[in-house]
Amino acid sequence: MRHLLTPQDFSVSETEELFRLADDIEVHPEKYSHMCDGKKMATLFYEPSTRTRLSHETAMLNLGGKIIGFPSGNVSSATKGETVADTIRVISCFADIAVIRHPKEGAALVAAHYSSIPVINAGDGGHQHPTQTLLDMQTIRRLKGRLTNMTIGLCGDLKFGRTVHSLVESMSRYDNVRFIFISPPELRMPDYVTDLLRDRGISYDEVTRLEDAIPKLDILYMTRVQRERFFNEEDYVRLKDFYVLDEKKLASAKKDCYILHPLPRVNEIAPEIDDDPRAAYFLQVHYGVLVREAVILTLMGLVDLKSFA
Ligand code: CP
Repeated sequence: MRHLLTPQDFSVSETEELFRLADDIEVHPEKYSHMCDGKKMATLFYEPSTRTRLSHETAMLNLGGKIIGFPSGNVSSATKGETVADTIRVISCFADIAVIRHPKEGAALVAAHYSSIPVINAGDGGHQHPTQTLLDMQTIRRLKGRLTNMTIGLCGDLKFGRTVHSLVESMSRYDNVRFIFISPPELRMPDYVTDLLRDRGISYDEVTRLEDAIPKLDILYMTRVQRERFFNEEDYVRLKDFYVLDEKKLASAKKDCYILHPLPRVNEIAPEIDDDPRAAYFLQVHYGVLVREAVILTLMGLVDLKSFA
C-alpha cells in the first residue's frame, strides 16, 4: 500500500507522470469523473484549514467519491484522549483513503504505520506538506515549462513553514536549481534542510533583505509568519510584518519572475500585487484540485502512472 507523507515518496519520474495525469484530468475531466464511484475519503483535520481540506474534498467529489471526516480535533474523540493510531485503525473500517492534518510532526507517519488504507499527509506541524509542494511544482512547471535551471527565492518564516521545507527538498532533485533563503535570523531554514542541500551538492544563499534577492529570482515564494507555532506572542508581533512585498519592491524583479504563496496571506503581499500578471497564488489553488485528484487516483491504484510516462 502506498502513502504520501513527503513529496519524495514520488520519484522524479513519477512526479512528472503525476503532473501529466493532472494535465489530462484538466483537459478531459469526464474520463475521471466516475473513477471513485462507491469510494469514500476521510478528512481528519486536527488543525484549521480552508484550502487543503476543501481542495481534497473537491477532488474526491470530482472523481465521483464521497467524503466523511472532521474539520477540527475539538469535535473528534481526540478530546477524550484517543490517539492518532487508534483513530486511523477505526477510520480504516469506514473509508478507502484518509487525509490527515495534525499539529505534531510525524503524526501522518504514525497514522500510516497503523493504517490499512492509503494516508495523505496534509501537514504535520512545521515539518512537511507534500500535496502543497506538488501543486506548487505543477504551477511552476505550467508557468515556466520546466522544473530545471532556475533560482527560487523563499521568503518569510522558513523555520516553521512546512511548505518551504517540502518544496526545497523536492526541487533540489532537479538540475541546476539554486535557492536563496530570505528570512530574519530568528526564522532561518532549519539545519536538516540545509544539511540535505549540502549532501546533494546544491548551492544556496541566506539573506535578510528581500530587495537584495529579488532581481536574481525566477520564482519568489512568499510565506506568512506562522503565529500558531510561536511560543511567545511578542516575538510573533515583532516579526510578523518583517516582509511586505509591494509594487516598489517588485519593480526590480524579472518580467517572468512568478510570485507564489501557499496562502493564507496575512500582510506579506500587498493586495496591489494581485493584478500583476506574475501573481500566481490563486492559480496555485486551481492546480491544487487537479494534482490532488491525480494523487488520490494513484494512491488508490485506480490509475497506473506508467501510462503517463
Ligand atoms: N496552503 C494551506 O495549507 O492552506 P490551508 O491552511 O487553508 O489548508
